[in-house]
Amino acid sequence: MTPPEYEYLRKFLRDHSGLDLSADKQYLIESRLLPLARKAGLSGISELVQKLQSGSSALVTSVVEAMTTNETFFFRDKVPFDHFRDTIMPEIIRARAGRKSVRIWCAAGSTGQEPYSLAMCLKEMGASLTGWRVEIIATDLSQEVLEKSRAGIYSQFEVQRGLPIQMLVKYFKQTGETWQIIPELRAMVQHRQLNLLHDFSQLGTFDVIFCRNVLIYFDQDTKINIFNRFTRLIEPDGFLVLGAAETVVGLTDAFRPIPERRGLYKPNDARATAAKPMPGAAPRMAAIAGL
Ligand SMILES: C[S@@+](CC[C@H](N)C(=O)[O-])C[C@H]1O[C@@H](n2cnc3c(N)ncnc32)[C@H](O)[C@@H]1O
Repeated sequence: MTPPEYEYLRKFLRDHSGLDLSADKQYLIESRLLPLARKAGLSGISELVQKLQSGSSALVTSVVEAMTTNETFFFRDKVPFDHFRDTIMPEIIRARAGRKSVRIWCAAGSTGQEPYSLAMCLKEMGASLTGWRVEIIATDLSQEVLEKSRAGIYSQFEVQRGLPIQMLVKYFKQTGETWQIIPELRAMVQHRQLNLLHDFSQLGTFDVIFCRNVLIYFDQDTKINIFNRFTRLIEPDGFLVLGAAETVVGLTDAFRPIPERRGLYKPNDARATAAKPMPGAAPRMAAIAGL
């Protein structure tokens, strides 16, 4: 791959998925895109770039999806799910006692382990949610991972990663060598394809947003832009949950960390004022779609 081809692919990926590759990730591109090029009957990365440049839309989705990292597992990092059970939901249950409804968004739900972990947590709350309307919306850029999430079918290896055995027995049905989430839990999760770079205002408002382990791949402007757009659909008393390597600190004052609850953030008072990046943070990038 020539340097101009690499630069073309870097910009292509930044524009289509937000993926921000440093100048030295040629090996990553080659390991992910060479098999794809061969499968498409192309001689290599150079021909793939030529096809993209000539506007072959069929390849766009495959290239973008091949470059996403879909790593996930049940109850990943554990602590956010403890916070969900012990801090977030008790507060929501008190605050929404009148309308008895909770909406949760898993903004990069990958193959479903994260939204289904939340569904299991909610089921475990038993009577305290009786009569409640509970919605979990799982979105992801990749159709492929969404299909797996919708099916809710996991290998033995996948259910052994993070899932307590009692939960496996209670909430999954074994079929041969695979395990499927029971229909009752599957029905709690709705799936939609959604690119976080694009407008997501049509999703409605949320009490809780889980957006974990995806912003790490984006540059600073993109993160700020997404945080600021989150403020328009999170309830003023809602919660934002980020991954262990992600934070709003130093990027925006739209959210504030909750002391002693690592990974949890609250929106700052007025949604209208929240769209201001911190002084010193890079200006918002007008090129990001959905502004
Ligand atoms: C590493 S997984 C994280 C899954 C889960 N949130 C977790 O923490 O276990 C990152 C997911 O983000 C998705 N993704 C990448 N870029 C995206 C974008 N621009 N919009 C929406 N989802 C994106 C990928 O397809 C992938 O499934």
